Amino acid sequence: MENSKNPIGLFDSGIGGTSIWKEIHSLLPGEDTIYLADSKNAPYGQRSKEEIIALSCKNTEFLLEQNSKLIVVACNTATTNAIKELREKYDVPFIGIEPAIKPAAIHTQTNAIGILATKGTLSSELFNKTVADFKGVNVVEQVGFGLVALIESGKLQSEEIRELLREYLQPMIDANIDHLVLGCSHYPYLVPQIKEILPPHVKILDSGAAVARQTKKVLESTQMLNPDANHKGNPVFYSNASPDVLNGILEDKYNIETKDF
Ligand code: DGL
Repeated sequence: MENSKNPIGLFDSGIGGTSIWKEIHSLLPGEDTIYLADSKNAPYGQRSKEEIIALSCKNTEFLLEQNSKLIVVACNTATTNAIKELREKYDVPFIGIEPAIKPAAIHTQTNAIGILATKGTLSSELFNKTVADFKGVNVVEQVGFGLVALIESGKLQSEEIRELLREYLQPMIDANIDHLVLGCSHYPYLVPQIKEILPPHVKILDSGAAVARQTKKVLESTQMLNPDANHKGNPVFYSNASPDVLNGILEDKYNIETKDF
């Protein structure tokens, strides 16, 4: 395809979607990527569906202006509230991210699983349809109020985060969950703190690797993989807030552009 050398675009309400970008960059190291962190408008999780759709359209248009050949919605809240509208409006393949309810519900031995996600995701029609498929399983839902704002302000290692996690996870421990689904792309960065709280047998699931595999599959089936086998993918990051937090969360030094989109 003529646009196969174009970049993969990704967006999130902030820095969380870099957890998905890392999976994509490691599975597809020859692909250029453009990551948009809409940190100025984070968190999306408390916003209305209409606002989430409008912000997702704005982000998509920015990524299309940069010639993205495919767009990864690296945000559960934007996927569960806006992907249908995005697919209807724009003529580019979209890959979304949804909480890994299905594998957790299939593999649970205690018949109880936990899900930590934003209010926007837990109240969405798409999420509730998925949960309805597993009526026999006790799905303990918890909104992660405050977590994204703390991560976005660089307080990943704070006692405030640990305190909130203890409060949110205790009812799940009481319900004897054996799987915890991380339904927000910011939360994989909290795994070390979560592991300090949960009993060691509880499996923690996120969807990052599955999104990367799906991205590869779609690029292959549409003949849009970069055909240049020697090309080393160039990652570019855009943020509309201070680049410091994004810089702190990326393990290598990358090109971060600050722009008011
Ligand atoms: N990282 C996003 C998600 O996966 C959204 C967090 C937020 O902005 O509330 O849901």
